[in-house]
Amino acid sequence: MSKVIILSLPEDVAFGRGLAGALGAEHAEISWRHFPDGESHVALLESLTGRAVVINCTLVHPDPKFAPLLFVADAARDLGATQVGLVAPYLAYMRQDRRFHAGEAITSRTFARVLSSSFDWLATVDPHLHRYASLDEIYTIPSRVVHAAPLLGRWIGENVANPLILGPDAESKQWVSEVAASIDAPYAVFTKTRLGDRDVRIDPSDLNRYAQHHPVLVDDIVSSGRTLIEAARLLEKAGFPKPVCAVTHALFAGDAHVALSGAAASIVSSDTVPHPTNAISVVQELGTAVRVLMRPESSSSTGKM
Ligand code: R5P
Repeated sequence: MSKVIILSLPEDVAFGRGLAGALGAEHAEISWRHFPDGESHVALLESLTGRAVVINCTLVHPDPKFAPLLFVADAARDLGATQVGLVAPYLAYMRQDRRFHAGEAITSRTFARVLSSSFDWLATVDPHLHRYASLDEIYTIPSRVVHAAPLLGRWIGENVANPLILGPDAESKQWVSEVAASIDAPYAVFTKTRLGDRDVRIDPSDLNRYAQHHPVLVDDIVSSGRTLIEAARLLEKAGFPKPVCAVTHALFAGDAHVALSGAAASIVSSDTVPHPTNAISVVQELGTAVRVLMRPESSSSTGKM
């Protein structure tokens, strides 16, 4: 029996199997159903005594998963796990990092405090760090962050000739510059003003000197899609062909995928959130992060977990 077991919520099973493969660990699905009144029933049916447990749960649409996640972490400990870590390929509640309007809850802090009290460590991919410099500002457990930029860069380098890497807003500079550097391509960043949940204004940069390049819009998150759609419109006005869109977290709320498909030449995403646009896998990199976070009692001399 392997010393490490990955437990996935039902919709995360495909990713969990990949992660288990990367780690040489066992994988199992968490049994989760609802009672007629809506309360969750969760069950961990494998033997967990003396084993390191890794809960794999991407946190898109986090609210319905939040309570079961805490129940599972607690149950794993109760059933004898030596450590309980969380792999959240997409980490939710990072964008409300201050009180933008009077009375708002700063949900990033509360979410971090509760997860930190339930798990021993956290591995994730490109959390939306804007006003926080690192997860350590709000999470009190050890964490590792995988950067998708080199993977997006590799995909763009292999699939787009003469790319111009473009970021839709100031925060995107961190990953856009990394993507561009990884394939030695030029980049530019627009300025965005958010006017509402589904309303953004984007101001262009001067792109005249890149007229011969193919535009590639890169962002960490696509949610309503309005940011990328607006940026694509600007490019069209400036005489560029439809852009390729490459994103890390494909949240695609409501009609966002259809709407963006009309404005983009193609859309690709990493597999942090299961979606038809997934073309870039972060599984190996998250496996490496988990190895680092896992306390030593779970590693054997052969390196097999
Ligand atoms: C925000 O700053 C992020 O980097 C994304 O640009 C944003 O979350 C995208 O949201 P939407 O798709 O709703 O415009």
